[in-house]
Amino acid sequence: MIITIDGLVATGKGTTAQGVARELGYTYIDTGAMYRAAAWYAREYDLLDAPDERLAAVLDEFQMQFVRNEDTHHDDMWIDGVNRESEIRSTDLALVMRPVVVCRPLRERLVTLQQEFGRVSNIVADGRDVGTVVFPDAEYKYFLTCDLDVRLQRRVKQLEAQWLAVNQDAIRREIIQRDETDYLGPDAVNKKAPDAQVIDTTSLTIEEQIQMIVDDVRRDWVTI
Ligand code: DC
Repeated sequence: MIITIDGLVATGKGTTAQGVARELGYTYIDTGAMYRAAAWYAREYDLLDAPDERLAAVLDEFQMQFVRNEDTHHDDMWIDGVNRESEIRSTDLALVMRPVVVCRPLRERLVTLQQEFGRVSNIVADGRDVGTVVFPDAEYKYFLTCDLDVRLQRRVKQLEAQWLAVNQDAIRREIIQRDETDYLGPDAVNKKAPDAQVIDTTSLTIEEQIQMIVDDVRRDWVTI
């Protein structure tokens, strides 16, 4: 069984997908973390500007692994046996990782890897292209949206909680720009799969988002 969650920037896709996986006892696949791991390694070895084939070859050079963190109950990203979770989440990395995200041969290989996860267990996957490119035949697909102002306020709160400086106009511009240009290479623009259910999260809490999806899936279990 495969459940995919795509959606706009700052709609809580990751937290929702983790919660759904926890409730249903499925494996959570954070596809963004895989792109971040490749970018972390490429930056470490100064390969971000390398030609596409060279960049994609980094996937042969290191091992990525999701390892359960018993303190946070999160599956952290380990690279070659070292926990790199906080490093892959850094804003610095996000700002320079575009060459990795648009590298077609690298995307193809990560997509294959993600599909292998889907063959061996029940999964909940979140990302930008999981319902369209990675798992076009997933049993359940969701696409999260939310009003811009609410997403802006959520982002501001998140940054304030980390004691980071907040410029609301800049954040608003960044969200609009990422919605429009989260371009993932020729085959994977951030868009809704035709058969995905849209969930407008504007007036929902994360717990309600999770529950809505869990209820939707369980409803079928009852009627099957
Ligand atoms: O969801 P995130 O912020 O962790 O994603 C990190 C980057 O990877 C972001 O630039 C979008 C990209 N990404 C992607 O291209 N395809 C995915 N399936 C998931 C993320």
